[in-house]
Amino acid sequence: MSKILIIGAAGQIGSELTYKLRELHGDDNVIASDITYENTALVNSGIFEIVDAQDQASVRICVDKHKIDTIYLMAAMLSATGEKYPMKAWDLNMNSLFHVLNLAKEGIIKKVFWPSSIAVFGPTTPKVDTPQHSIMEPSTVYGITKQAGERWCDYYHKNYGVDVRSLRFPGIISWKTMPGGGTTDYAVEIYHQAILDKSYECFLKEDTELPMMFMDDAINAMVELMDAASETVKIRSSYNLAAISITPKEVSEAIKKHIPDFRISYSPDFRQKIADTWPKSIDDSEARTDWGWNQKFDLDKMTEEMLKNLSEKYAKVK
Ligand code: SER
Repeated sequence: MSKILIIGAAGQIGSELTYKLRELHGDDNVIASDITYENTALVNSGIFEIVDAQDQASVRICVDKHKIDTIYLMAAMLSATGEKYPMKAWDLNMNSLFHVLNLAKEGIIKKVFWPSSIAVFGPTTPKVDTPQHSIMEPSTVYGITKQAGERWCDYYHKNYGVDVRSLRFPGIISWKTMPGGGTTDYAVEIYHQAILDKSYECFLKEDTELPMMFMDDAINAMVELMDAASETVKIRSSYNLAAISITPKEVSEAIKKHIPDFRISYSPDFRQKIADTWPKSIDDSEARTDWGWNQKFDLDKMTEEMLKNLSEKYAKVK
């Protein structure tokens, strides 16, 4: 039985990944970690350790203590926050990756998952059905760290035999834990505001099309990729991954089917400039061919799930 450590487990993806992996591998085999105890639901749900992803000793102590052999490195500073703190974003996103890759190079860690992002692409990349191998000139610090990280993952695999696996996530839409500091965050906020206020002021223009994915699909993709036989995982930088491509207007139309008096207004801010450099849609045929990726949620099905779960969640708080 493998022993799994999730670094950055309190975040949007990390928290749901923790719950899923515990279901699959047993509570005692999945250790959640983050830098604070703030996410109490997560902290109280099983084994939790304070680990600072930037501090090699902190990661190492936890790995030794729990005899960890698999790491999911989910800690990162996302695109919008990264533009405010460029050096901090670089340090966090790169140092954490090196600490984990080096533990794998030493043979202590046998398997690594590290998320990349559509932010690796930039203004010179073809925007529609962006291919797996394409021009990559990212314009955000976050995108630069993810692209550099991809190259290092591939390098560690080729030169040191490290079993690292990665996905270029689009915007992830979920209801359990809020995203933190991304350009695609509107697509989560809009559902919360629909339930709380029946109105939302969007920080992107109505026709800004971006690739997105419902959390359940993102979690399944990680589980499937990590379960795949090593020889089927042919790409060791990071796989393109697609589900739905949507604009704020389309999301608001989908919400209106359930909440007819929902209102949206638009007040684009600095995040519009970031969104304008990213793809509208992604060609993920290599992920489909190599290890059988297939999404289950479209916009309508996801909207139903989001609204149902968020209205139950807020009803409980009242
Ligand atoms: N959701 C991320 C962001 O907006 C993209 O990977 O930064």
